[in-house]
Amino acid sequence: MPKITVISRNGSARDVEAENGLSLMEVIRDNGFDELLALCGGCCSCATCHVFVDGAFADKVPAMSEDENDLLDSTDSRNESSRLSCQIQMNDSLEGLVVTIAPED
Ligand code: FES
Repeated sequence: MPKITVISRNGSARDVEAENGLSLMEVIRDNGFDELLALCGGCCSCATCHVFVDGAFADKVPAMSEDENDLLDSTDSRNESSRLSCQIQMNDSLEGLVVTIAPED
């Protein structure tokens, strides 16, 4: 079960255990970060699960789909680290992942 660090919008960081097989969105939400709205429940249609993934993990997370890319284009705060957290499945290779919840649009 990888341990990851989640940084909130106010800059505070907290380490949480991430169950393999869950999405990163589910891990963040289930650990009480209510600022991650995840309104569509993980079906890649809302972009309210937008996070910034630490660059050291850029090649450890799955490649971005066209749908995810299009949705991220609809956000104001997209940068090169942007991902939709519902599209990243947890596994042991993500041990130590640092993820920052993106600003609200
Ligand atoms: S939860 Fe809606 S796109 Fe991720």
